[in-house]
Amino acid sequence: MARVVLEHVEKVYPRGVRAVRDLSLDVADGELLVLLGPSGCGKTTTLRLIAGLDEPTRGSIALGGRVIDRLPPKDRDLAMVFQTPALYPHLTVLENLAFSLRLRGVPRKAIRHNVLRIARLLGIDDLLDRKPRQLSGGQGQRVALGRALVRRPACYLFDEPLSSLDARLREHLRSELKRFHQRLGITTLYVTHDQEEAMALAERMAVLCDGALQQVGRPLEVYDRPANRFVAGFVGSPPMNFLEGTVVGAEGRLWFDASGWRLAVGNADLASYAGHRVVLGIRPEDLRLAGPTEMPDGAMRAEVALVEPLGDRAWVHLEVQGRFRLVARAEARHTPARGATLLVQIPWDRAHFFEAGQPGRRIAEAGQPSPGGLQEPPRPICR
Ligand SMILES: Nc1ncnc2c1ncn2[C@@H]1O[C@H](COP(=O)(O)OP(=O)(O)O)[C@@H](O)[C@H]1O
Ligand SMILES: [Mg+2]
Repeated sequence: MARVVLEHVEKVYPRGVRAVRDLSLDVADGELLVLLGPSGCGKTTTLRLIAGLDEPTRGSIALGGRVIDRLPPKDRDLAMVFQTPALYPHLTVLENLAFSLRLRGVPRKAIRHNVLRIARLLGIDDLLDRKPRQLSGGQGQRVALGRALVRRPACYLFDEPLSSLDARLREHLRSELKRFHQRLGITTLYVTHDQEEAMALAERMAVLCDGALQQVGRPLEVYDRPANRFVAGFVGSPPMNFLEGTVVGAEGRLWFDASGWRLAVGNADLASYAGHRVVLGIRPEDLRLAGPTEMPDGAMRAEVALVEPLGDRAWVHLEVQGRFRLVARAEARHTPARGATLLVQIPWDRAHFFEAGQPGRRIAEAGQPSPGGLQEPPRPICR
């Protein structure tokens, strides 16, 4: 077991592709940290740098308190699962699973016991005699995962290990992996582009965009207080609704004004933004829907354009007075029909506010507007 510390790590590939930008990350001993971000944001590169398969352009990486920058991959005591499974084609599944243990001289009986246990966990115990070419993509991926899990390294590095599996198996193995981690407590960096998988699995998650770290925190911290507009839009499905408008002080109070539609807001943190453009964010489950006769404060008349029923709930796509589109969550038994007219209300205390423009940082208590909406040097554009 070991703590993993990245300090100001950069990776610039030939032709100037900056895959990882000034990344500092501290993964506690025994922690399961999920690296989350869209395709191409530098997740695989980050794992390859930790594994020693690529060299950072700048910065340093420590494992268990020891700087490992000069250590060859085989001496790093890590087990990595790659995005595309790497198996020995001439060995059976059983031999593939046992390979690293045999290499380390583990006694035969212990190997067999361990391999069978992991094979059962991953549901591949009926495939042990097959060769890799006789496996489907998802089966091969599970064997690759098994090859890592039979070992007890200082740290596991998982690169989207469940992405090629069908949804049910993916959810099943996600919970098995979490259980496995809870039992053994081996430091784990787990990469995914799937925000639901990240939320379900992570003790903490680190959100990346265009090689740059956006936010690190426990899943619900990130969900409830996204640090900027990118994180707000990336974490949560369907994504948060966004409306751009201006903060207006009038009649002794603050208003959010979006092309004439006004919402009275009580957020003291907006006071210093009077006269500035801001973006209001509201999650689908936080919108309130009401029949056309009730008239809650600041409600907007909306038409139901589309309904996506999911069993226990439905996503309702609304057209608001031809000006905005919003997605709301409705309970299964109270789902309005397409074409229905209703009222939608944004409770101001459930709304998130971000600066307009990039990087769209969260407007926090006592936050001061940054000149022109930008506080720091221009950051990569993450939408
Ligand atoms: N060997 C390489 N040479 C040049 N560019 C690369 C190489 N590997 C990855 N990249 C680029 O680096 C960026 C990050 O890639 P990657 O780490 O694979 O992202 P992710 O795993 O998040 O999808 C991408 O723009 C990708 O095209
Ligand atoms: Mg990748």
